[in-house]
Amino acid sequence: MDYLKIEGPVYLEGSIDISGAKNAALPLIASTILAKDDVCISNVPEVVDIKTLLKLLGNLGAEFELKNNQVNINTSTITKTTATYDIVRTMRASILVLGPILARFGHCEVSLPGGCAIGQRPIDLHLKALEQMGANISIESGYVKATAKDGLKGADIIFDKITVTGTANVVMAAALAKGKTTITNAAREPEVVQLCEVLNQNGVNIKGIGTSVLEIEGRNKELVEIKPFGIIPDRIEAGTYLCAAAITNSTLTLNNVCTKHLGSVTAKLEEMGFGIEDNQESITIKPAKVIKPVRIVTQEYPGFPTDMQAQFLALATQAEGASVIEERLFENRFMHVSELQRMGADIALNGNVATVSGKTPLSGADVMATDLRASSALVLAALVARGTSNIHRIYHLDRGYDSLEEKLVKVGAKIQRLKESI
Ligand code: UD1
Repeated sequence: MDYLKIEGPVYLEGSIDISGAKNAALPLIASTILAKDDVCISNVPEVVDIKTLLKLLGNLGAEFELKNNQVNINTSTITKTTATYDIVRTMRASILVLGPILARFGHCEVSLPGGCAIGQRPIDLHLKALEQMGANISIESGYVKATAKDGLKGADIIFDKITVTGTANVVMAAALAKGKTTITNAAREPEVVQLCEVLNQNGVNIKGIGTSVLEIEGRNKELVEIKPFGIIPDRIEAGTYLCAAAITNSTLTLNNVCTKHLGSVTAKLEEMGFGIEDNQESITIKPAKVIKPVRIVTQEYPGFPTDMQAQFLALATQAEGASVIEERLFENRFMHVSELQRMGADIALNGNVATVSGKTPLSGADVMATDLRASSALVLAALVARGTSNIHRIYHLDRGYDSLEEKLVKVGAKIQRLKESI
């Protein structure tokens, strides 16, 4: 197992190229199950979650090649419909194959994803919506077994809660259903928008893209021809590197970003005193004279993303005063707090609200990554902490950040990837 050894404090300088968005690539790769021929997708981040999904599709019988951030997939060779436990347990987003497989083959079995480090994360809303579309669903031996012998039919779905992968699953199922599906309270995340746009550009008529009401005209099992396309830039990766610049109070430019998707994040950085230069496809952050404390409440898009909460919590340790960060999406998404406290952070946790008192000098320590974004928060803290930090269990980091240490080293960080001795 690998760990990262990071020496701090450092200043960063230069530019970083942002990769394609993992969370856009996952549903879009799953959507190739709806395609009749080869699909070519570029700007794909070569991270573990993407490789896991491709492995899952490979297990089902699909043929693929991932090279130079480009993936070619042919799903016409799929013969199996079961997403097995050994894959689903490593990546909850495997649930994204449920909608398209069920819609195409009339049955699908997916190992039930359990809870995870950031909370329970049920999939009840995915299942309820597919039932409304005519699926029979049972849970047997730890598997969701879904059948729709005569195919899925359009339905009026009202999500009780906004769900990102739930919306993606239903959009993909609805694409091959008979008749129209309306999703009310749909997710508006840019990653869901890209899924809808790609399907819409390739013959699935979708209205309301980017709004909370989507209308999908089903193709009654007629498969889709998907033309080549590229994945949108990763707004969470970009947000993380903006925080890397902010926590070290450095100047840094990020290339290949969509600044429109970063609005809630850059607004908070500006509130904290950092300069933001927005050039639409690149962005430059400049140091703050004084780093001011911040108040953050995580929300669905276009609100402040829960996937940026941990990084801002680390950043808040360097603000002059008390910052208040409230997590509204996931009940247990504060595992990074105790690790940051080991580095000297002053954080009081009360339910889903963290109060961070700053400015605190951080010191290097051995810390453990607990989930993907929590891991990146520890890397940020280590950049500003005095001395050596060793960040263990970085397989979490590898799930979602493409070449993180190479990108940070290029702009001045002192990071080495080493092997654990035991
Ligand atoms: C996606 C993102 C993840 C991000 C999250 C919220 C992917 C692959 N992952 O996760 O990075 O943190 O959105 O922006 O895109 N819920 C239910 N029942 C359900 C589904 C969800 O109660 O059937 C709840 C969840 O527990 C959570 C909330 O709804 O409290 C939002 O979750 P959801 O949007 O579904 O998150 P994911 O799609 O799993």
